[in-house]
Amino acid sequence: MKLQQLAEEKVGFLIVFILLVISVGLLIEVVPLFFTKDVITPTKGVKPYNALQVAGRNVFQREGCYNCHSQMIRPFRAETERYGHYSVAGESVYDHPFQWGSKRTGPDLARVGGRYSDEWHRIHLLNPREIVPESNMPAFPWLARNKVDPDSVVASMKALKAVGVPYTDEEIAKAAGKVENKSELDAVIAYLQGLGLVLKNTR
Ligand code: HEC
Repeated sequence: MKLQQLAEEKVGFLIVFILLVISVGLLIEVVPLFFTKDVITPTKGVKPYNALQVAGRNVFQREGCYNCHSQMIRPFRAETERYGHYSVAGESVYDHPFQWGSKRTGPDLARVGGRYSDEWHRIHLLNPREIVPESNMPAFPWLARNKVDPDSVVASMKALKAVGVPYTDEEIAKAAGKVENKSELDAVIAYLQGLGLVLKNTR
């Protein structure tokens, strides 16, 4: 029986052949990325998040901010005019998991760092409509009331280190002290203010 006939008449074989074709395609697309220098080398100036930013990033994920905000500026003029330099892979080498996303109910946040003051973010996160009356972003008032849990920040940093983020033992030992008595609001603002600064001015 010829291969083509087999694929046309026996659905089991068809499935196997389809999987085979897809896996070859995937290997050719994906495997080279593991060895491409651009993709695995941090962009010059990119540093791992500090303890407070790690806490903020955890809040960002827990609250599902990524459901409405991407962190990935595409290399098109309409995007770079609005948000700044397009995103490059070397900027997210310390992001585990990355927050690129694709859903944009709100603006992209890849380069929001430094765009507004801390105070702006404080008011905006507690009630977006105080600043942008037509905003449909939810309010996050509990962030001001919740304290950052130092133990969970230490655990996150250890986990990040395990997957390759170069934290020193000393940084991890000091992490708990750095986030003590900080609110989740402080943390998420520290995280936002650090986003995308490295390529910001090369627009
Ligand atoms: C339901 C969708 C939605 C969710 C969830 C959401 N946002 Fe937004 N966000 C928006 C919209 C829409 C805007 C634009 C209007 C405004 O500024 O409020 C916005 C604006 C922003 C801006 C200003 C961006 C700029 O460049 O002007 C920041 C910063 C921001 N959001 C942060 C967050 C953070 C942090 C979270 C999670 C704690 C979050 N958002 C969750 C919809 C959302």
